[in-house]
Amino acid sequence: MKVQAIIPAAGIGARLKSQVPKPLVMLKGKPLFVYALEILTKSSMISSVILVVNAEAKPELERIVKELSLLKPVKVVIGGETRRESVFNGLQSTDDATEYVVVHDGARPLVSQSLLEEAIEKCRQEAAVVVAVPVKPTIKRVAKEGLYVEATLDRSFLWEVQTPQVFKKQILLKAHQQAGEILATDDASLVEALGEKVKVLEGDYKNIKVTTQEDLLIAEALIGNHS
Ligand code: C5P
Repeated sequence: MKVQAIIPAAGIGARLKSQVPKPLVMLKGKPLFVYALEILTKSSMISSVILVVNAEAKPELERIVKELSLLKPVKVVIGGETRRESVFNGLQSTDDATEYVVVHDGARPLVSQSLLEEAIEKCRQEAAVVVAVPVKPTIKRVAKEGLYVEATLDRSFLWEVQTPQVFKKQILLKAHQQAGEILATDDASLVEALGEKVKVLEGDYKNIKVTTQEDLLIAEALIGNHS
């Protein structure tokens, strides 16, 4: 079973308000994107990685990738305006023989090797697997206009979806090609739009996405405690 990984890391990181592109923001002495890249290239289940980046940041990211002496080949490709386009670009760069694709955000430095591999393993029986955690807070739907509460959602049904997300490649490809104009913030939502089943694998609250400056502080603290 041939598995390739795609790391979307082409976001501009507007919510981080940093001087440098988000993948290059330093976290405990290492650029943010390097964490995800090292974890994925260390897995014996993944044959190679496609790193999707912003055109302007590409030369610098390529230079860093070369210096890392990673265990697996890494192809660097240019992303798009949206995360969906970026993943699609990565998908088009996968090898013909690839049967499964792992998508993992470049902004999630704290995924564990065991969770990553459990998700890949599960995808042998399921077409699509997403890592997620039950939500802890109470979530309300609020009208954009006026900011009045419309509903309080039943928390027992709500899960916060993360990456990794693992797919049979042909299904993910079809989902990207046929899901229409929906604005997808993850890949599973495109697969859901096809009517395919998506299996949830309970993940880890530490697997945060670095979006804002507070997240950087949290990630630093979690890395400090990471075994
Ligand atoms: O925007 P969001 O926080 O959902 O981004 C999740 C991941 O998708 C990040 O790693 C980001 O770099 C990536 N992304 C991308 N191309 C875009 C927008 C986001 O690769 N156009």
